[in-house]
Amino acid sequence: MRKRARGGNMLIQNHWYPVCPSERLKSDKPVSAQIGKYALVAFRDRVGKPVVMLDRCPHRGVPLSLGRVHDGKIACRYHGWQIAADGALVGVPAHPDEAVPNCSVPTFEAVESSHYLWAWISDTGVRPSYQPALRGIQHGEWHQYTCVWQVNIIAAVENNLDASHVPFSHADTYPLRGDGTDEVPDMVFADLRCEVDHQSVVVWGPGRKQRPPPDFETTASMGMRFELPFRNYVWAGGRTARAIYNWVPLDNESCRLEFMVQQGAEPSGPVSIVLRDGEPHVPSQDRVLLEAAQRLNWVEGDEKPYFKSVPSDQPAHFARNIMKRALRGDGLSAQAPKQFNVSCWG
Ligand code: FES
Ligand SMILES: [Fe+2]
Repeated sequence: MRKRARGGNMLIQNHWYPVCPSERLKSDKPVSAQIGKYALVAFRDRVGKPVVMLDRCPHRGVPLSLGRVHDGKIACRYHGWQIAADGALVGVPAHPDEAVPNCSVPTFEAVESSHYLWAWISDTGVRPSYQPALRGIQHGEWHQYTCVWQVNIIAAVENNLDASHVPFSHADTYPLRGDGTDEVPDMVFADLRCEVDHQSVVVWGPGRKQRPPPDFETTASMGMRFELPFRNYVWAGGRTARAIYNWVPLDNESCRLEFMVQQGAEPSGPVSIVLRDGEPHVPSQDRVLLEAAQRLNWVEGDEKPYFKSVPSDQPAHFARNIMKRALRGDGLSAQAPKQFNVSCWG
């Protein structure tokens, strides 16, 4: 029988992961979030600074995220135990005259950056070695969605380095040529280049030898970028749209997507984030296909997603190797970038 693999197996250590969009973290309401094996709660302390800790009351284990935030402390909904922003238990309402038991809830390093709240994940207590930041969020309105995919996180990341699926999976919205119907548009030959180093894979084109700048803002080229731990950028050709995919592993067979998308060639004005419910159309087309493949081919995170590969699968294979090495905690020493051609019809 197929076992469901739980736990933090897909968590690349010593990286920042998004907890939630900053906009979602108000001053009076806790937010819960799963990052691998860690069930977390986030709230704001008395001065508005974000706090992230394990979502488990030290009394009877009720999730603290069901509780109330007051005066920068979180109070459990079961018996009202109060936990301060540093994780210390500071109040037991049933026994106001007795000393508070000496215990605390484990906290996580947390920072707000690029419109998200991030938590630093390190099972071994390694301190943050960099600050989280997203590329290319410079102007205009972005729409943010949070979705859960029943898909191994590596397969989810690989999909966004796959240039040849687009006319088939996204026939209706195919950039510049989709006509809103399910008819596959005429394919064109895309002259694509790929650059790989020890922590990223970038695909761009058509027709440029030089890699575009990392945020793609100054070019009309389409581009796809993967970077550790589990992040994709997709810039549509003709500067029609740009999207950022931050993936968070839940278990070996599911992941959370924090998705930001912006339409339009010339975004202007200060950045604003619109929190959207539901699921964006284009990623939902990928999700349906990948979830169907996952049910057939992925067991306990041991993937067999390709029965045969063709050259346009190469960027995905490179990204997979980078993620797998990072999951094992090896192979992260810097390497000179390598460039090669990944042209295909698409
Ligand atoms: S379980 Fe949280 S206060 Fe009792
Ligand atoms: Fe897709």
